[in-house]
Amino acid sequence: MKKSFTSITLADLDNVAKEIHNIIESFGGEDGGNSYVIHLKGEMGAGKTTFTKSLAKSFNIKDDIQSPTFTIMREYNILNNKRQKLLHIDAYRFENKEEGKILGLHKKTENNNLVIIEWPENTVSPEPNMIINIEKLQEENLRNIYVETK
Ligand SMILES: Nc1ncnc2c1ncn2[C@@H]1O[C@H](COP(=O)(O)OP(=O)(O)OP(=O)(O)O)[C@@H](O)[C@H]1O
Ligand SMILES: [Mg+2]
Repeated sequence: MKKSFTSITLADLDNVAKEIHNIIESFGGEDGGNSYVIHLKGEMGAGKTTFTKSLAKSFNIKDDIQSPTFTIMREYNILNNKRQKLLHIDAYRFENKEEGKILGLHKKTENNNLVIIEWPENTVSPEPNMIINIEKLQEENLRNIYVETK
């Protein structure tokens, strides 16, 4: 499935996240199963972390979502949902693709978590269920968001 959201402002972002939330919810995993893995792409400052905040809000996560640039991975509990945790990863600083293994990423995806990876190009990640591409437009504060499910 492919879907695009065009000329998205910051004010639109929560609604886009809600639509994407619904796509994620409709995808299996009721039986404990595997994680839902999202590759979140886009240039620096495209809005990957900002989008993750909106998506976290749609899962009722009240914690303050901070960029995992320096911490590499942050975990947030998800309540009342088949997904147990949001794992937010930023692979930007990974020196080599093996670092994902050190994080135990594959092991963590064995539980039914929601895994969001910024800069997935820089790591060996589990196969994504969804790829989101955020594109900056000429006009500041506007973005195109492309969603593809696998
Ligand atoms: N429509 C929009 N959608 C998302 N972010 C926007 C939008 N308009 C403006 N912004 C701003 O752009 C910036 C995006 O920064 P953010 O940290 O989310 O980018 P990023 O893609 O995670 O970058 P990095 O690769 O460095 O982690 C924020 O300051 C945000 O407020
Ligand atoms: Mg970021």
